[in-house]
Amino acid sequence: MANMNLKLLVWRQGGSFGAGRMVPYEAGDVSPDMSFLELLDVVNESLIAKGEPPIVFDSDCREGICGMCSLVVNGVPHGPDRGSTVCQLHMRKFKDGDTITVEPWRAAAFPVQRDLVVDRGAFDQLIASGGYVSVNTGSAPDGNAIPIAKDLAEAAMDAAACIGCGACVAACKNASASLFVGAKVAQLALLPQGHPERTSRVLAMVRTMDGLGFGNCSNEAECESVCPKEISIASIARMRREYLRALIAGPGR
Ligand code: SF4
Ligand code: FES
Repeated sequence: MANMNLKLLVWRQGGSFGAGRMVPYEAGDVSPDMSFLELLDVVNESLIAKGEPPIVFDSDCREGICGMCSLVVNGVPHGPDRGSTVCQLHMRKFKDGDTITVEPWRAAAFPVQRDLVVDRGAFDQLIASGGYVSVNTGSAPDGNAIPIAKDLAEAAMDAAACIGCGACVAACKNASASLFVGAKVAQLALLPQGHPERTSRVLAMVRTMDGLGFGNCSNEAECESVCPKEISIASIARMRREYLRALIAGPGR
């Protein structure tokens, strides 16, 4: 595949309270083997060479693990590749002459800080409200010391794949965090180590989610379709069952 010439329309915003706008850029001689973030690196090098401020965007691992990259590419959180983060998106997915739009996550609970960077501190508050195990589980036990049925272990591992990127919120018309919270609740409710705090966890996390400005889930499944770890909306159903159980069982159960 030959190198490409592309046009970019990138959201530029000076700060949290400044007005933003889409700004056009030209990207020439783009290798199809580049990642999308490498494309932005190259555009930034040319901006810096011209004395212009570079495009500010988040990234860390660049291999789909950390959940830092958070770009809406052509209207889709993480771009056109299903089951992939935007740092794993390659330019071979685009054609010579394409115009590509690049925007930040859009959600009231994720305010834009600058250009393509949003504040995802609301997710940290959600985890702090209950997304952990605080009982002393001791040192690592032998593999078979606590028998866990294979289907439960696999379902917990599937939920634990969530990297906290926030694409589910960005894709949802209600900006709901239900897939993220559902993944955390499901992961811990399925394992015996999570059972002592099972009731208080789901009550606190759902209450905190509502208080942080995330919307309600209306079963659109947009979240599942953009999730880079392909977390199933079955996690949301499990969160709802856990919530009902907690309301009925009461504290301490
Ligand atoms: S559920 Fe998926 S989309 Fe949502 S934060 Fe976790 S990994 Fe990202
Ligand atoms: S930069 Fe870590 S998941 Fe994309």
